[in-house]
This record gives sequence, structure tokens and C-alpha cells, in this order.
Amino acid sequence: MKRAGLMAAGTAAVVAMAAGIVMLAPDAAVAQAKKEAPLELKGDASARPWKRYSGWPSRDYSKYNTLGHLATAPAPKEARKIAGLPEGDAAKGAKLVADRTRGGSCLACHVMGQAGNADQPGNVAPDLSEIGNAGREDEWLFNYVYDARVYNPETVMPPWGSHELFTDAEIMDIVAFLKTLKKPAVFKVEVDNPEKRPAPVEKRDNLDSIENPAMWTIDTAQELWKKEGATGKSCQSCHANAATEFKTWAASMPKWEPRLDKVLGVEEFITRHAKATTGADLLMETDANRAMSVYLHNLANGAAINVDTTSAASKAAIERGAELAKRKIGQLNMACTDCHDKVANHWIRGQWLGEPKGQYDHFPTWRTSLQTVWDIRQRFQWCSVNIRGDELPPDAKEYGDLELYLAAQNEGLKLSVPGIRH
Ligand code: HEC
Ligand code: HEC
Ligand code: HEC
Repeated sequence: MKRAGLMAAGTAAVVAMAAGIVMLAPDAAVAQAKKEAPLELKGDASARPWKRYSGWPSRDYSKYNTLGHLATAPAPKEARKIAGLPEGDAAKGAKLVADRTRGGSCLACHVMGQAGNADQPGNVAPDLSEIGNAGREDEWLFNYVYDARVYNPETVMPPWGSHELFTDAEIMDIVAFLKTLKKPAVFKVEVDNPEKRPAPVEKRDNLDSIENPAMWTIDTAQELWKKEGATGKSCQSCHANAATEFKTWAASMPKWEPRLDKVLGVEEFITRHAKATTGADLLMETDANRAMSVYLHNLANGAAINVDTTSAASKAAIERGAELAKRKIGQLNMACTDCHDKVANHWIRGQWLGEPKGQYDHFPTWRTSLQTVWDIRQRFQWCSVNIRGDELPPDAKEYGDLELYLAAQNEGLKLSVPGIRH
């Protein structure tokens, strides 16, 4: 695209010379080739106040950290004494460890003997099937579950007690149950054993519109491309050859945008550029915006992800993104890296945890289980809400930093959009 611009300018200069009129100065030609895309700089690129998607948990997590602000109370400094707490009931504990409504259940991460032979337990944490033989004190077990940070500040385990997921009495029930675990787990079927469960392989052809309904959104986008907005212009008015002009553009996104002082992803670019050119409202997380994002990414399919990782502003953004990925957020007090780095390539209950490489090249992606398209920002939002943390609006600058950090880890992988995932 840039090269074509230069050539056109060069030709104009030659024509101008031949006609004996003022020649285009070389820097004017360069300036023309590098013309900045107009952007609406005012206002937000997504709905305000941001409202959580319907169907998502509506609990209030405002007591806890988000990627945007710090709120979580500090970890306790000392283990608690359990003298005076009621005796635990192991049968109740057996139910509690498998209760998915309490932050996903212990089985999400641990195999737990008799409780571990159903429900596809995970293996991101030690198998506790024989913890009853380990000679652990009740008080130690209580505290490990109440808030493991008193023993291990780096723990991945959520602070079940201090973050009010279980009461003291319930933790005593869990302790009583843990002490009954004395035999290796027996699995009814092999897939229940996370060590034997085969890692999922995505074999569907994502670019086949019968397999991947997100391909249909490309038709929607092509119609939108020709639709005039309030200014009387359409995308087509200025970009008559999208297929050639945008062959690699999406693979260079996101990028630092000095005019906005933040990292801009494809979706926010669409909102702000449309507003500034055609006048159309294509707010983030609307069907129209997602369709346009699928289309622009799809045009760059096969291009290797090639984001700016060298300029000072990009480097600083990537560093901020790396820090955010390590921030403990939500009631479960987990960081992105807790799941996608420290314990990647393991099972968290029935879900395989991917590592960052390979997590970016297929977005926006079709979610078969939800029958909808998710862009990368919605994925960030869900991974936050899923650990009981408030999400940020999709155009939050923190997500920009995180997206650039993730894209940088995916450098060189070829775009294949729309993806298709469970
Ligand atoms: C997100 C994953 C995760 C979940 C969910 C989880 N744990 Fe853990 N747990 C761990 C990890 C990882 C360890 C290993 C040590 C560490 O990181 O602190 C651990 C360690 C433990 C230990 C110490 C084992 C030992 O002997 O060293 C106990 C006890 C324990 N977990 C009980 C539970 C109980 C009970 C629940 C449910 C209330 C639970 N865990 C839920 C990740 C998890
Ligand atoms: C009034 C003209 C105009 C309209 C209408 C217009 N654009 Fe652009 N667009 C530009 C200019 C100018 C640039 C800067 C690069 C260039 O010169 O091609 C640009 C650049 C782009 C880029 C590349 C961004 C970059 O940083 O280089 C994309 C993608 C794009 N436009 C998409 C669209 C879409 C989608 C629409 C419709 C919603 C649209 N454009 C409507 C003028 C326009
Ligand atoms: C409790 C564990 C957990 C935490 C913490 C977590 N995620 Fe996830 N994440 C998952 C699971 C499970 C999936 C779906 C399986 C997969 O694709 O890895 C997923 C998927 C993703 C994907 C899409 C992967 C793909 O290939 O389609 C991205 C991107 C992602 N997470 C980013 C994040 C970010 C950013 C954070 C921090 C805000 C985060 N995750 C925190 C568990 C987690």
C-alpha cells in the first residue's frame, strides 16, 4: 500500500515535470505516502457506561483488583489458629470440593481421589488423592485452603477463606474430607484422568463457511464497506481495492497510536476511523464492528504477525502489558500468567490451558459453544470475569498494552481468521 502510494506520487512528479509545472518536492511525496489514517480522537470507542454482556455472571467484584485498578486487601501475614472452630463434616466437605458455584471447585485443579473420578478433574496442581497420609496438621490444612499465601506467597491457589468463597466452618468440612483421602484415584473412564486425557486438536477447517459461520460476517462487512455514512462517503469511496490495499495491514496491529496515547487494536481503529471518514457509528463489540474486524483480518490471512516491538513507545507498552499479565485480579486472585504461563499445557477441569503463542493468530474467532464471534478484547474480558474480576471496557488502554504484549509473543505466526474454537 505504501509502495503503491510512493509510485503514484513519483508518477505525478514525472507528469508535472513533463508539463513544465512545479515539481513535487521529494518530502511532499514521502509525506503523501505516509498519510495518517484519520481518526476520531474524542469520546470512547465502546458503550458507556460499559454494561456486562447478557448471560455473563452479574456478581459485583469491585472489592478486588482489576487490570485497571488495585483494590484487593493485602494477604494475611500469619496463619490463623483453629481452636474454637467447629469440627468438620467430611461428607459435606466432599460436596464442597466439587461445587462449581464456589469459584470453579477444587477439582478444577486437583485430582481428589473419590471426588476425582468424575467431573474431569484438572492437573494444574498436585494430585491430593493421598493427602490423608501426608501427616498434615489440621491447622496447616485449614490455612492452606483459607489463604495459602501465608505459606507460599507465589501460590496459584485462590485464597478461599480470606476472599469469602468458603466460610470457616466450610473449610473445616473440607479439611475433614481431605483427611479421608488415602488411596490413589480410580477413574471410571480414561478421559477423567487428566494425565491420560488427550490434548485437544482443532481439526475443523476454519475458512469453510459451513464449518465456521463467522465466515458469513465477511458478506456483512462487504456490504457495510459500500454503505454511505453521514458524510455521504463509504469505505469504498476511499479504498476501492481493499483486497490489495489491506493484504498485510491487520498483521501489523495493534500498534501504539500517539494521537490517542494508547495502543490501538483493529476494532478500536474501525470505530474511530469510520467516525472520522464515513461518519458511521461502529462501536466496539457491536455485530457491525466485529464483522468489519473479521473482514480486515481475513484480508491479511497468511501474513505473518509483525507488530512494532522496537520503538520506544511500543517497548514501554509491551513492558506494561507483561506486568498486567502478572497482576493478581478478581476474587480468585489469579493472574493471566498463572494459567497461561505457569501451568500452561495442563487441564483446568475439562479445559486445556493454552500457552500465549497460538492464542492470537485466529482472532476474531467463532465460539461454537456460544454460537457467536469473539474478538480478542471480549476474550480478555471473559478471562477476567471467569476469575471473578470486573472486566474493563473493550477500549481500555490496559487491554491495548496486553494485546500488544500477546501479539509480540505471536510474532511470525500467520493470521488465520476467523478462527474456530469450542
Ligand atoms: C487454580 C488452581 C487451584 C484450585 C482451584 C485449587 N488449588 Fe489447591 N493448590 C493449587 C496449587 C498450584 C498447589 C501447589 C502449591 C501451591 O501453588 O501453593 C495447591 C496446593 C494445595 C494444597 C497443599 C498440598 C500440599 O500437600 O502441599 C492443598 C491442601 C490444596 N491445594 C487444597 C485445595 C482445596 C481444598 C481446593 C478447593 C477449595 C483447592 N486446593 C483448589 C492450585 C489450586
Ligand atoms: C475519506 C476517505 C476515507 C474513507 C471514507 C475511509 N478511509 Fe480508510 N483511510 C483513509 C486514509 C487517508 C488512510 C491513511 C492511509 C492511506 O493513505 O491509505 C486510511 C487508512 C485505512 C486503513 C489502514 C490504516 C493505516 O494505519 O494505514 C484501513 C484498514 C482503513 N483505512 C479502513 C477503512 C474502513 C473500514 C473504512 C470505512 C468504515 C474507511 N477506511 C473509510 C481514508 C479513508
Ligand atoms: C483460571 C485460568 C485462567 C486465567 C487466570 C486466565 N485465563 Fe485465559 N483462558 C483460560 C481458558 C481455560 C481458556 C480456554 C482454553 C484455551 O484456549 O487456552 C483461555 C483462553 C484464553 C485466550 C484465547 C486462547 C485461544 O487460543 O483462543 C486468551 C487470548 C486468553 N485466555 C487470555 C487471557 C488473559 C489476557 C488473561 C488475564 C486477564 C487470562 N487469559 C487469564 C483460562 C484462564
